[in-house]
Amino acid sequence: MKAVLVANPKGGSGKTTLSVNIAGLLANQGECVALLDLDRQQSASLWIESRPVNLPNISTLESRKEEGHLDDWLIVDSAAGMHGKDMTDALKLADKIIVPISPSIFDLHASRDFLEALSQEKKSRKGKYDIGIVGMRMASNTRASQALEHFLATLDLPILGYIRETQIYVNAAFEGKSLFDLPRYVAEKDVAQWEHLHGWLTKH
Ligand SMILES: Nc1ncnc2c1ncn2[C@@H]1O[C@H](COP(=O)(O)OP(=O)(O)OP(=O)(O)O)[C@@H](O)[C@H]1O
Ligand SMILES: [Mg+2]
Repeated sequence: MKAVLVANPKGGSGKTTLSVNIAGLLANQGECVALLDLDRQQSASLWIESRPVNLPNISTLESRKEEGHLDDWLIVDSAAGMHGKDMTDALKLADKIIVPISPSIFDLHASRDFLEALSQEKKSRKGKYDIGIVGMRMASNTRASQALEHFLATLDLPILGYIRETQIYVNAAFEGKSLFDLPRYVAEKDVAQWEHLHGWLTKH
């Protein structure tokens, strides 16, 4: 099983949106996917509860343990402000870490500090996990989105993609759906933005 931790202590950076859509993407590829929700707000768990039963199944880790079933993927949504032992424990779970960053000066500052801490932690663990970055809520021709692109270009980390700002994710979440559960004609343009991330997840 591969465990993917979605983490950024900055509140509202896009962790849950990214987590549930990665789960939806993999489930729609026929993979066995479980979500682990480390956030006390339980947003990802509520999303699963509202997921229509006719869609590709995504389990919670708890239900999977009860079934004694091993999944192909465990997607871990983490909480704002997570740090210290909670963060270290979450990192220990992970084969891959994805850091969503939203375009604002506050997000850039907070994320830079987190990435610094993450790279120290990775060194001390001798690189046992891969780290990738996703630019969230991108809006063309805005200062904040351009600043985020410039910032990411200075990092020595793979950029897995840029996800545009759109209500498609917000509306899908109301129905327990991901982008990948929507009809092709609605989602095509946005699905294309996930191609590189998907390749990075599945390459090894
Ligand atoms: N690509 C997008 N387009 C439009 N809205 C988005 C997009 N991505 C996320 N959002 C919205 O931004 C807000 C924050 O996203 P989300 O809840 O995923 O962040 P989070 O990091 O999980 O927040 P928290 O730290 O509170 O757990 C939500 O209202 C979500 O619907
Ligand atoms: Mg969240």
